[in-house]
Amino acid sequence: MRILHDPVARAFFLQGPGSTYAFRVGPAGRLEHLHWGEQVGAQDLGWSVLHCDRAFSPNPDPADRSWSADTLAQECPSAAGCDYRAPMIEVRHGDGSRVLELVYAGHRLVAGKPRLDGLPATYCEADTEAETLVVELCDAPTGLAVELSYTVFAAHDVIARSVRVINRGAAPVTLLRVLSASVDLEGSGLALLQLSGSWARERHVHVTSLRPGLQAVESRRGTSSHQHNPFIALLDTGTGEESGRVWAANLVYSGNFFAGVELDQFMQARLHLGIHPDGFAWELAPGTAFQAPEAILAFSAHGLGALSRTLHRLYRTRLCRGRWRDAERPVLLNNWEATYFNFTPERLLTIARSAKEAGIELFVLDDGWFGKRESDVSGLGDWVVNEAKLPGGLARLAREVEAIGLRFGLWFEPEMVSPDSDLYRAHPDWCLHAPGRTRSQGRNQLVLDVGRAEVREHIRAAVAQVLRAAPISYVKWDMNRHLTEVGSLGLPAHRQGEAAHRFVLGVYEVMERLTAEFPDVLFEGCSGGGGRFDPGILHYMPQVWTSDNSDAVSRLWIQHGTSIAYPLSSMAAHVSAVPNHQVHRTTSFATRAAVAFTGSFGFELDLARQSPEDMAEAKAQVAAYKRLRSLLARGDLYRLADPAGGRLAAWMVVAADGGEALVTAVRIRAEAHDSVPVVRLRGLDPAARYRLDDGNEVGGDALMAVGLRHRFDRDYQARTWHLVRV
Ligand code: DGJ
Repeated sequence: MRILHDPVARAFFLQGPGSTYAFRVGPAGRLEHLHWGEQVGAQDLGWSVLHCDRAFSPNPDPADRSWSADTLAQECPSAAGCDYRAPMIEVRHGDGSRVLELVYAGHRLVAGKPRLDGLPATYCEADTEAETLVVELCDAPTGLAVELSYTVFAAHDVIARSVRVINRGAAPVTLLRVLSASVDLEGSGLALLQLSGSWARERHVHVTSLRPGLQAVESRRGTSSHQHNPFIALLDTGTGEESGRVWAANLVYSGNFFAGVELDQFMQARLHLGIHPDGFAWELAPGTAFQAPEAILAFSAHGLGALSRTLHRLYRTRLCRGRWRDAERPVLLNNWEATYFNFTPERLLTIARSAKEAGIELFVLDDGWFGKRESDVSGLGDWVVNEAKLPGGLARLAREVEAIGLRFGLWFEPEMVSPDSDLYRAHPDWCLHAPGRTRSQGRNQLVLDVGRAEVREHIRAAVAQVLRAAPISYVKWDMNRHLTEVGSLGLPAHRQGEAAHRFVLGVYEVMERLTAEFPDVLFEGCSGGGGRFDPGILHYMPQVWTSDNSDAVSRLWIQHGTSIAYPLSSMAAHVSAVPNHQVHRTTSFATRAAVAFTGSFGFELDLARQSPEDMAEAKAQVAAYKRLRSLLARGDLYRLADPAGGRLAAWMVVAADGGEALVTAVRIRAEAHDSVPVVRLRGLDPAARYRLDDGNEVGGDALMAVGLRHRFDRDYQARTWHLVRV
């Protein structure tokens, strides 16, 4: 890892373990992008920048018709100048002008990685792990400064990029658009990969060829959303799992985002990522600064598989934090699909006893334990146990669960309020709204204005009080609607454009304080399943309920797509009842477990009501998972067969030293007189021999070249192989 500055060529080279990112100070101090891709040594790359006179591309210097921001690769494009492509930064000055001429004003190198004020980010534990370059640009007429930060890690082949805008002038400026990253690349033959879908169908992989103009993946829902994930990748022609070039960008943020690729008239692709500019306006007073979220940029010359493994390692070790980052996660049972709102202490304890019998370690009480909450029409905001439903309160129930030999976990939805709640009756102005207008409801609830300090403090204190009063080892933090009428009584009229971002900052502050106050509690993120599965949340909560769709077959697509960016340890995955409650499909217990193994494993059903055969199977699965969980949480993922083909999904997890692996294959659709699929393994030691669970010993080279076979004879059948190096 090195960051090099060539003062003669005025160029910067960011050398990651396997890639290079380079840019330079061009004519008149404007930053020109030079290269992002395979590693190249620090050298003058000026010859690669072709200045040429182009029709209808204006020039700031009348003496040089060959330089135009409209034609050349830019590092920090701003609005209203010579570049007609989408800008990275756009402001409105006091005089109404949006012209911004960002010119190099200096740079500094910092050991390690500075924190980002109030925002989640990757980090290092020692300054020797990373190096950060901060380049300062300045708009001379106004004194507006922009700091571009780039961190290079020794052990992770990514660039962590972020932007800070500082008003060093005398007049306020309105920020209209501050994206976190913008990179101009050669765009011929590229395709865009996005992770998109819907509630219960999150993060399916979609790949489309770039076409001239702008292709955007975005959320205006106030959260990162089920519909689109703040991750995009550009794939070179022919790129697949094992080979080909891929450039990816992932925003460490949980609110509105914009990820765009603009293919221009000369087939250059501008990749953009940051807070969505729609609805965003931030008043920057003189002497103040605005910090934009971090964007993780990752390049792989060896396909999507290598890219995923790079991101997984980074997120597992230098994005997630706290005790649970490295600790083995407990096998849990959540009562939601077993009882929904309809439970008694006796029923819960019966389920807990059967969970204990199966070897499960944690019992989670989901929605319905507090206030007036017999359904989803009321009660949110009143975080006081319903003693009529749970006599003796949570302390008694938690103690009884602990007496069975399980730890106790609890569900919250802290950012929400039901109109039918004591909290709303006391503070009807505490929700996001525009005065005098409709307050639209989603799942019969409103969104609290978490950007306001008094609302934040109320939420924090209410959750903390519950966590202090009972032995609670786990929290599921849910969020079941998106934002509407995003106005805040805490902001004056001219600053209402800050409300959506201030909401996200407020949520982060509450998460930061609660996770710091309760470091032993395992926090799991959730938003109607995977509606807020993003790197921002993973900074506070190392695992997220991947989807409300717990069907094993639907999960093949959801977990495959999620794994493109996010580690298996971050994906909560449970065995649920059949017919499945979301899609009414019936799959075997074995298949449901095989799919759920590939995540933080648990159950979402009443084990007390399962057949003795299924109970025996559950016991065996829990025991097997406990033996394998450290491999599954820390191993390297290889995706072997893409469910998109519709016939077979297969993947494997290999220990970092190649000593052990678990291979899983699921026949999605069987045929009469079916072919026997071959699953060629990856990531093994070719020179070693591996013992399979049937006792056979096979060479790593043969397992990778010849592969494993299994004769499937029905739909949704799973086969796993456990391999140990001998
Ligand atoms: C949505 C979550 O995703 C579910 O698992 C469950 O917790 C419900 N909310 C409870 O209301």
